[in-house]
Amino acid sequence: MSQKSMTSRIAILGSGEVGSTIAYSLILNPVAGEILLVDPKEEVRDAQVQDLSDATFHGNTSTQVRAGTHKEAGQCDIVVITAGAAQKKGESRTDLVGRNLKILSSAIDDMKPFREDTIIVLVSNPVDILTYFAQKFSGLPKHQVIGSGTFLDSARLRGILAQKCGVAASSIDAYVLGEHGDSQMVIGGVPLELALPDASIDKAAIAEDTKKKAAAIMESKGATAYGIGGVTSSICKSILFDQCNIRPISHYQDDMNVCLSMPVIIGRKGIVRQIPLKLNDGEKKELEQSAKSLREIIDDVEK
Ligand code: 2OP
Repeated sequence: MSQKSMTSRIAILGSGEVGSTIAYSLILNPVAGEILLVDPKEEVRDAQVQDLSDATFHGNTSTQVRAGTHKEAGQCDIVVITAGAAQKKGESRTDLVGRNLKILSSAIDDMKPFREDTIIVLVSNPVDILTYFAQKFSGLPKHQVIGSGTFLDSARLRGILAQKCGVAASSIDAYVLGEHGDSQMVIGGVPLELALPDASIDKAAIAEDTKKKAAAIMESKGATAYGIGGVTSSICKSILFDQCNIRPISHYQDDMNVCLSMPVIIGRKGIVRQIPLKLNDGEKKELEQSAKSLREIIDDVEK
């Protein structure tokens, strides 16, 4: 861990299954000196701090975990926001918008004033809508307010392709873009037709399997946590180590006036710059549809 990152602090709002899994992933891949858990449910928060601290005493990590306040969170290098209601069986991510916007607005007010270089990482759903409003509520520059977006969907897509192609997922360059939700769309860095040994690729079926994976997991165990924990910890590492990785991350799109996921370079300042992508007409149409469905929800909230 670099000297600099040893003094860095990450605040996680929400110490439920997702927030605590993110904290656990950050402890195992140490990227920060200190992790603050912020949650009004103090008994659960403190129990998570105790349990997570037991994962730091074995000596392979110098990360410390403690309870923190909203005011302290606003002064951290990164604020990860997982606070909010999670989907119930049969609920879509966008069904959560009313409840979770209220929680987001009050949490951001409680954290102000923000350190000028704080990066806010939204995880709560609907992540693209909440990323859009988190930037408005916080007043931080657009490049400093991002969402996990379709990074997790892209990881799922690579896992599915890895199985079909017999190639390591880390060697597959394929993205899910747009909304982290029902209108997401898939593009393949390497033409999928070439990557798969036999020509029987069914891109639509692969896209559907990717889209449906979260719902299938929730149906059986109630919620997802490890996938989002791993990708969020990776986002934090890209930021604190200024790694300049390319990731499909939700952020503000000037031309569409929404937040959705496109490949960007991520570093200590958040979004360094977006990577221009050559989309075919079908992909362009799907992306526009994704943006349209997000804009309709935002207009509904703002009216
Ligand atoms: C996921 O995709 C529920 O958005 C969460 O796992």
